[in-house]
Amino acid sequence: MTDTAAWPSERTGASPEAIMSHYDMGNDFFRLVLDPEMIYSCALFAPGDDLSAAQMRKLDHHIEAAGAANKSRVLDIGCGWGAMLRRLVDHAGVGHAVGLTLSPSQAQWIRKTPNPKIEVREQDWRDHKPERRYDAIVSVGAFEHFVHKGLDPRVKLDAYREFFAYCDKVLVTDGRLSLQTIAYSERTKVQPLLDKTFPDSDLPLEWEPIAAAEGTFSLIAARNDADHYYQTLVLWEQNLLANYDKAVALVGKERTDEFRRYLRLSGIGFRGGMVSLMRYSFRKKY
Ligand SMILES: C[S@@+](CC[C@H](N)C(=O)[O-])C[C@H]1O[C@@H](n2cnc3c(N)ncnc32)[C@H](O)[C@@H]1O
Repeated sequence: MTDTAAWPSERTGASPEAIMSHYDMGNDFFRLVLDPEMIYSCALFAPGDDLSAAQMRKLDHHIEAAGAANKSRVLDIGCGWGAMLRRLVDHAGVGHAVGLTLSPSQAQWIRKTPNPKIEVREQDWRDHKPERRYDAIVSVGAFEHFVHKGLDPRVKLDAYREFFAYCDKVLVTDGRLSLQTIAYSERTKVQPLLDKTFPDSDLPLEWEPIAAAEGTFSLIAARNDADHYYQTLVLWEQNLLANYDKAVALVGKERTDEFRRYLRLSGIGFRGGMVSLMRYSFRKKY
């Protein structure tokens, strides 16, 4: 793992500043909206699930899809507030879980409850050069940030290829990657509205991660759970409304209303089939 010349260096993703300004709206704000584990991505619902149960089900789905249970070393690319890291070491028997985030406040939040099996790094995956390979990789809700808008389609696909090449490089032979991302089902007439709803970065088209994985990974499964994101957004909005006055006291009325609008508009995208919630699992090729 020492041929550093081959590590990617060029930046095609959303800037750390753009990502930080969004996530660093404040931990206290997100506490009012999200489940107690602070999971900021689409849940996986079974009948009767509340938000918390559906979020745990989602974590377990990815742990299973990546074959991560009882493994020594697992990497979480885009670890948010660390729920996956905790689930891996506390419930799935993982020896050492490493999480990458670009948000300092997320990293501080995770470090507040020290756990010797958990390591969080404020680091872009492009800069993370581990000494040893990982046994499994999960990445949930981060892929959306890996390219910025306006790239030529070929350059965009190359940026995604760089991600799969990176995962290939840091994963053991036969290792698996479980990836969750929002995607456009197709470029549509309502593109300007979607671009406004997802402003920081560009989203992949559904097929782009599969195409970008060609040569490094083979696809095991892909599913579109757009209706699960709609359900998640409805529950986040309910939480926001139940805590509206507290949210306004924290970030002001304008940002609170803007965030509610963002939840609503995203919901329309998922409900109307313009936007998909893709969960892919891949196996590294020999
Ligand atoms: C929507 S949050 C999802 C967090 C978490 N996986 C969850 O489901 O709650 C996206 C996460 O990806 C991280 N992220 C975005 N781009 C990244 C990059 N290039 N390298 C590492 N982390 C990145 C952000 O800092 C944030 O922690």
